[in-house]
Amino acid sequence: MLPQIVFSLLCSFLCFHVVLSRSLPSQSHQVLDVSVTLQQAGEVFSSKSKTFDYGQLVTSSSSSSSFSLSLHPRSSLLKPIHNHNYTSLTLSRLARDSSRVNSLNSHHQLALSGYSRSDFKPVYDTVVQPEDLQSPITSGTRQGSGEYFTRIGVGQPAKEFYMVIDTGSDISWLQCAPCSDCYQQSDPVFNPSASSTYKALTCHAPQCTSLEVSACRTDTCLYQVSYGDGSYTVGDFVTETVSFGRSGSVPGVAIGCGHENEGLFIGAAGLLGLGGGSLSLPSQIKATSFSYCLVDRDANSASTLEFNSARPGDSVLAPLLTNSRISTFFYVGLTGLSVGAQMLQIPASTFEIDSNGRGGIIVDSGTAVTRLRTEAYNALRDKFVELSQHLRSSSSFSLFDTCYDLSSLTKVSVPTVALHFSGGKTLQLHPNNYLIPVDSAGKFCLAFAANSGSLSIIGNIQQQGTRVSYDLANKVVGFSPNKC
Ligand SMILES: *[C@@H]1O[C@H](CO)[C@@H](O)[C@H](O)[C@H]1NC(C)=O
Repeated sequence: MLPQIVFSLLCSFLCFHVVLSRSLPSQSHQVLDVSVTLQQAGEVFSSKSKTFDYGQLVTSSSSSSSFSLSLHPRSSLLKPIHNHNYTSLTLSRLARDSSRVNSLNSHHQLALSGYSRSDFKPVYDTVVQPEDLQSPITSGTRQGSGEYFTRIGVGQPAKEFYMVIDTGSDISWLQCAPCSDCYQQSDPVFNPSASSTYKALTCHAPQCTSLEVSACRTDTCLYQVSYGDGSYTVGDFVTETVSFGRSGSVPGVAIGCGHENEGLFIGAAGLLGLGGGSLSLPSQIKATSFSYCLVDRDANSASTLEFNSARPGDSVLAPLLTNSRISTFFYVGLTGLSVGAQMLQIPASTFEIDSNGRGGIIVDSGTAVTRLRTEAYNALRDKFVELSQHLRSSSSFSLFDTCYDLSSLTKVSVPTVALHFSGGKTLQLHPNNYLIPVDSAGKFCLAFAANSGSLSIIGNIQQQGTRVSYDLANKVVGFSPNKC
């Protein structure tokens, strides 16, 4: 490939895109290391289990208010039970991911339809499907949701718990004794009566009235969160002390104490809501920023979730946008996409939030595969296929329609994929962020998909290996590659 020539050819076609072409990646193709990628994928089944010292991983820093927690991919906490079959592991991950996206779509639609805060009947006496939570979980969404976990302390004295991190929701909660229905978790269930700082919220407390779904029982506040995929949590909305390793603790954080929890969060005690709404953890602790770096989903390693720390100097910056109809989601200003250093011909409005709150593109820690509006996905896929004719194509796989058989190769050149943000900055993705193995034999698929709804989502496969910083004070999202 002669990128210079390709570039000048392109320029003659796209000379009216002067501003955009200025920030196009300099290379149309980059190298995917097939053998290293497959070797890395195999690590997911490695039985060597690392012992993480969660308390010690907390780093001190010059800024007294910043702190850092360890962050782990799900597979390092829960070894997948798939008889070392990477195909079935991928299928179950993708099924889980589809549930996740359905749940975001329905939350989005519900918010746009302008629903009002509703009361609900506490469902403590609901008859739940009998389910043997002790048995090995083997397939589909029963694998549980949540891709990355951190560990925090709750109560006084603090007890430590694994929590799923989620930028797509606001309310933090954990399973609480007494359980009328709790799924299996790896730590003992939180017992409020053993904590001196547990305090029920009254129905008129501002935190209670901020809930989208709440109920009142003898002047105590009940919350309910449903994730649209059949999983939900119901219980008391309370304040508790939340502690972060050695970095100290914050009293009076409103969290859900879930007495009835339907189990798609298997393993973790609950969830940390990192969304943009007023009840999210960053909002409640008045964080000016937070960031995470997601290690490879198959890795046996950890990275960090940080609050109030400076973003890396080399971060590619994108405007952090808000949708007046829904405060939870972190939208970014995305103007376009390029494949093989060619801008895709998609209307600039494709990723804009319209006056009804539809559209837009969010960054989400919990979605794996980036979802694009259908017309944008089709343009991306078509250009990728056009520039990948040197690769042997293979059949579709689950939600992926563009796959290649790379089994006979050790290294291969693949078209560059880049995101172009308003403000002119470009995030060039590493090949591992868009061409991923789906089996252990060498079948790789383009890890993007169409979303039937109006929302687009930048998923965590595209974020892996990158420190993503949400600068809430300055309304900027930073992407710093190679920073885990
Ligand atoms: C792996 O799982 C897939 C899908 O569940 C199945 O079709 C395939 O036969 C399995 N392969 C092996 C080697 O067991």
